[in-house]
Amino acid sequence: MDIILLGPPGAGKGTQAKKLAEKLNIPHISTGDLLRQNVASATGLGKEAKSYMAKGALVPDELVTRIVGERLSGGDIKNGFILDGFPRNIAQAQALDEILKKIARGINLVMDLDSSEPVIIQRLTGRLVCKSCGANFHIKNMPPKNDMLCDYCGGELYQRADDNEATIKTRLEVYRKEVSTLIEYYRQKNILKTIPADGEAQVVLKEMVKLVEQTDDSLKV
Ligand code: AP5
Repeated sequence: MDIILLGPPGAGKGTQAKKLAEKLNIPHISTGDLLRQNVASATGLGKEAKSYMAKGALVPDELVTRIVGERLSGGDIKNGFILDGFPRNIAQAQALDEILKKIARGINLVMDLDSSEPVIIQRLTGRLVCKSCGANFHIKNMPPKNDMLCDYCGGELYQRADDNEATIKTRLEVYRKEVSTLIEYYRQKNILKTIPADGEAQVVLKEMVKLVEQTDDSLKV
């Protein structure tokens, strides 16, 4: 099944995508993670993306679309994929349609995780991320079992550079500016489902699994 996760920063896209991807045995493709890997390895693309990310602005569509196109050409997507953080505007959504058309694929389900601003700020200012495997934790909500070490791989945990209140506010503004047209785009295609995402992670995941089970894998757009 080919799935897109929408939602504001901190709605839980990364957290839920990781669990859902394990459950469905399909890859979790996060443009944020792919961009951060490029920044960490100081690739040409990473150097270009770095300043946009630090400000909380969108990286230019052309760069992000190129990364996604390359990632979706991998053989591991044959049973499906979960896109997290892409598309973020109409130009990216249309570029994605083109990419998928070329590989005879289409989206089955778009899940929009709906979360409120106070919850988002609390989640992002307490988020911890594993340097090795990218797993997410939270200082209070989902603390790691061992102080500052990842439960899954033992990697070191860190706070993302863009998880400070000023940058979070910019990321939220950028998100709000683009989201309504994007939501409308997928609503028109009849594949959009909204999920309340302020609640406990397990409850949100259960709701997402239910929606996946109700979706007909053969109906792609
Ligand atoms: P990206 O990495 O995609 O960041 P984001 O969209 O801001 O989303 P987040 O990763 O912050 O939030 P999330 O929803 O994944 O929340 P999480 O699960 O971690 O993008 C970063 C930057 O890259 C962008 O600003 C932009 O510059 C660039 N970029 C990326 N994609 C791009 C694109 N397509 N085009 C252009 N530029 C692009 O959860 C957050 C915290 O809450 C965690 O600590 C978690 O443990 C906790 N938590 C999650 N769910 C729950 C719950 N239910 N209950 C309690 N705690 C919870």
